[in-house]
Amino acid sequence: EGGVELTNDGQLTWCTSLPYEPFEFQQGDQVVGFEVDLVALIAERLNATPTVVVTAFEGIQSGTDLTVGTCDLAAAGMTITPVREENFDFSEPFFDATQALLVRGDSGITTAEQLAGRNVGVQNGTTGADYAATNIPGANLITFEDLGLLTTAIQTGQVDAVIQDNGPLLSFATQNPEFTVTTEFDTGEQYGMGVRTGNTALLEVVNEVLATSRTDGTYDAAYEKWFGT
Ligand code: ARG
Repeated sequence: EGGVELTNDGQLTWCTSLPYEPFEFQQGDQVVGFEVDLVALIAERLNATPTVVVTAFEGIQSGTDLTVGTCDLAAAGMTITPVREENFDFSEPFFDATQALLVRGDSGITTAEQLAGRNVGVQNGTTGADYAATNIPGANLITFEDLGLLTTAIQTGQVDAVIQDNGPLLSFATQNPEFTVTTEFDTGEQYGMGVRTGNTALLEVVNEVLATSRTDGTYDAAYEKWFGT
């Protein structure tokens, strides 16, 4: 399709890491979410079927999954960073995010300083893990492989707080009202989708579809569907 080579014929094979509601998460036997809808538009434009491969975020953000051919596209609520850009190519940014702090509503914790000496959960390989290591030096950081393990850890009391992107934490707090997002740290992050370094044919399609989704209302409709108004 327009010079785009796909690893599996007729399929847009894409990697993600679950759960990451509302960007991508399991519902019954389906993977659904905001980013899933955007990937579907890209697949449609390629006359291909989207085939999701669920992997660990570490292999996505390091570029390994793309490099070894596990997938042609990586979409995982992934922040564009200079280090990652050395290992694969990013699309244009399509979403703004920031690190945030999730705690129990009755914990009284509202600042990073209050986390000194506490157990704080982060996800392996994420910008949140980097942020916490640099900016919350007094905390006892505990690393988990995915967001599901992180939210379980705060529910069981293994950690007193979670540092992750605002979108998934706000979604969790809405569904679990005993928890609250007390602080957003204004890290000014932007999500991009990844392709193998030099796969400009695919990258151009991704960027074109993302741009078109903004002008034809598809992006806004998906946003409203997954984030409410
Ligand atoms: N935006 C953060 C990062 O890029 C966290 C992404 C985590 N994504 C996931 N699907 N668990 O590091």
